[in-house]
Amino acid sequence: MTDDREPAHDEDTTTASGSAASLPLRPPCERLAGHKSSVCSRSYFVVVMVFFHVYIINVIALLFYVHYSSGQDDASPRRDAVSDNQQRAETRRPPSKTEILRDVSLKRIEGIRVGHVQTVTLVPGKVHEMRTLSLKPLLFEIPGFLSEDECRVVMQLAQLKGLMESQLMVQEGQEELAKELNLSPEEIFNLLDINQDGQLQLHEILTHSRVRDGIWLTPENLREIYAGLKADKDNNGLLSLDEFRLLSNDAFQRFLLQRGVKRSQLVRNSRHTWLYQGKGAHQVLQDIKTRVTRLTRLPPTLVDLSEPLQVVRYEKGGHYHAHHDSGPVYPETACTHTRLAANTSTPFETSCRYITVLFYLNSVDGGGETAFPVADNRTYDEVCLIQNDVDLLDTRRNCDKSNLRVKPTKGTAVFWYNYLSDGRGWVGEQDEYALHGGCVVTQGTKWVANKWINIDPDYARQARYQQLVSRQPEEEDEEEIEDEGDESLTLNTDMQSSDIHQDL
Ligand code: OGA
Ligand code: CA
Ligand code: FE2
Repeated sequence: MTDDREPAHDEDTTTASGSAASLPLRPPCERLAGHKSSVCSRSYFVVVMVFFHVYIINVIALLFYVHYSSGQDDASPRRDAVSDNQQRAETRRPPSKTEILRDVSLKRIEGIRVGHVQTVTLVPGKVHEMRTLSLKPLLFEIPGFLSEDECRVVMQLAQLKGLMESQLMVQEGQEELAKELNLSPEEIFNLLDINQDGQLQLHEILTHSRVRDGIWLTPENLREIYAGLKADKDNNGLLSLDEFRLLSNDAFQRFLLQRGVKRSQLVRNSRHTWLYQGKGAHQVLQDIKTRVTRLTRLPPTLVDLSEPLQVVRYEKGGHYHAHHDSGPVYPETACTHTRLAANTSTPFETSCRYITVLFYLNSVDGGGETAFPVADNRTYDEVCLIQNDVDLLDTRRNCDKSNLRVKPTKGTAVFWYNYLSDGRGWVGEQDEYALHGGCVVTQGTKWVANKWINIDPDYARQARYQQLVSRQPEEEDEEEIEDEGDESLTLNTDMQSSDIHQDL
């Protein structure tokens, strides 16, 4: 960000030295002063006037240039949905496929600065205050988003439905996968050696076991496993290929199974359930959805088609280590919610959750804060997250070292963007700063709910998906869709018209 501003300073300096360059005209004039002072002052006057006029003409030309170039920008199809839509209506010609791709502009709330408070109208006759907690990620807090009664109803509905373990103890299917692929020890070693230095560092193994097995090993756990398996022969804390070869394929897993894995050693230690918020759902659940739509100022269609409300309960000792709610964007990655519409069958699937709205359903007696380890860091450095002594991802140990912690307060909602903007009104890259986790609950229980808003960073795929689901027979607007010739257009107009009156 600061980098962006630097060229402007450079320009200023250039202009200053540019005007200084006209000063050397003066000394020759002074030399002649004794003899022909009147001629000199006249020629001096002429020179100054010429420069003055050239300067004025330059300024006018520059003003014209700025005016016309921004005018062209206004006419480009990259403008926001509303003005673009008006222009489209005026010209009355069918837009091309490429224009459709840029048609919708997702609203993004402005953070202004940390601590900035803006008021929002989410329910008629009531004003809520929304405070900016960080800019990286773009994160806000809204106290009193839910009433006490609403919190109670959501917790009761979740209990009625029944909560399940958020993470199972053993991940199945891994052994079969490894056998099927028939990888050699060298190949596995290469996969694990992220920095490709021919050694396996502690954090390379830790990341692997967290991602693959969902088991949260600490560096001490790993040293203990190395000792138990006599894996690190030279005792340097690293595994070389030779040391790795001596281990059997599933040595670590078998060691862990024998020793037993406690719930506290999992990535996530909680129970959860899902509550649908569509037609027929409890009024409180529908109200929450409407309020979320107003809060985020996104097209209602997008909120309607997102995941149901997830209600989570942590017991004393419960936690959720730092994670991203959403996956990174790679061309070969498909979003779980739009896989219906993905043309290719890709093995890489991720949740695409543009926004997380997290509700605190109770105030926790001890611990249970939501931690954002790198919020508003100057830089993001993945390697620095897991050092041998301090692991910032570990919310059982190191929440106090997180840059930002939000204390759970009944009824408060926090919300943040898991993706940046692509600069053209659609979803861009994953925001690495959106890393967060639930700190260990030291006293009492903790209840939260998550409302995720799913948007595919691939606009065409999101559009195709919406087109597909809007054709389902139970939807009322089915006939409307069939009347219109171009399906993707119908979808667009649909999303925009509902977007327009959502602006508060
Ligand atoms: C989650 C989550 C944080 C918290 O459920 O994805 O990050 O404070 N929860 O419980
Ligand atoms: Ca390595
Ligand atoms: Fe999360």
